[in-house]
Amino acid sequence: MKISVIGAGNVGASTAHYLGMKGFAKEVVLVDIVEGVPQGKALDVWESQPVNLQSTFVHGTNGYDETADSDIIVMTAGVPRKPGMSRDDLLAVNTKIVKECAAAYSAKSPNAIVIVVSNPLDIMTYVTLKVTGFPTHKIMGMAGILDTARYRSFIGMELGVSVEDIAALVLGGHGDTMVPLPRLTTVGGVPLTEMMAQDKIDAIVQRTRGGGGEIVKLLGYSAYYAPAAGVVQMCEAIAQDKNRILPCACWLTGEYGTEGIFLGVPAMLGKNGVEKVLEVQLNDEEKAMMANTVEHVRKVQAEGEALM
Ligand code: APR
Repeated sequence: MKISVIGAGNVGASTAHYLGMKGFAKEVVLVDIVEGVPQGKALDVWESQPVNLQSTFVHGTNGYDETADSDIIVMTAGVPRKPGMSRDDLLAVNTKIVKECAAAYSAKSPNAIVIVVSNPLDIMTYVTLKVTGFPTHKIMGMAGILDTARYRSFIGMELGVSVEDIAALVLGGHGDTMVPLPRLTTVGGVPLTEMMAQDKIDAIVQRTRGGGGEIVKLLGYSAYYAPAAGVVQMCEAIAQDKNRILPCACWLTGEYGTEGIFLGVPAMLGKNGVEKVLEVQLNDEEKAMMANTVEHVRKVQAEGEALM
């Protein structure tokens, strides 16, 4: 298993670091346009392997030759948010970067599975599809695991229970219109709605929607540890053909009454990428929230398409 991580900034370097610690890949290649940075960060991760007792070889480069024949490409290159910005504000600048990188890595690794992290996520995943022409099951975006992890972590804090026992699902676009589903959230098998008052649940849903912005406000730039953890969970499910059910931005062909966009939905991830999109029966209120997020993603996708 060879994994190339495009972008050696906060998300990319953290991904390389986690991948090194996990050890399931044979090789990780870190790529960036800034000279010295991918080489230096990769060397630092590689030098931690004797302590980690893992043999995944991590190295860095400014070109794409070293990425040839990658099994997985993780696309993190792009500009992150600054305080006061929405993910959609990154559309023009990141469309250009995602286009340029996708053309370069897809030429070297025509059979790769691509996990996109650059924002606005659902649209950058679409740009990747258009540029690479890869089969749709081989292209996906990482956002749902992150949004669901944020939601689970807030529930864990509120209830004082282990986050390991909280099962949950956040659907929809990666932004303010995302759709957390308290009705389907369980804590050790017990419905969340039986364990927490509605006003507390509402507050957690709101905090989840603004979870990325909360970190941007605190740090001055966007999150990277949890996003990288989400990426590595997807890589592991694919590398080990686990058939894990994880929320990811997937290409829809009629599921949830929607087609022609990437949207956060539960997917089965295995050696072929998205093995299957799972459909959840939604109630009227949830359907209305899904319709709203679909409309938003479609609108920004059209704007992105015009920039291509
Ligand atoms: N080719 C390769 N690397 C590039 C290119 C390019 N054309 N353009 C920019 N980069 C690199 C930058 O040099 C930088 O090292 O992408 C990296 C981005 O890193 P950060 O600025 O630290 O941003 P990060 O926090 O990692 O976020 C990256 O992921 O979560 C999203 O919204 C976030 O779109 C952003 C992306």
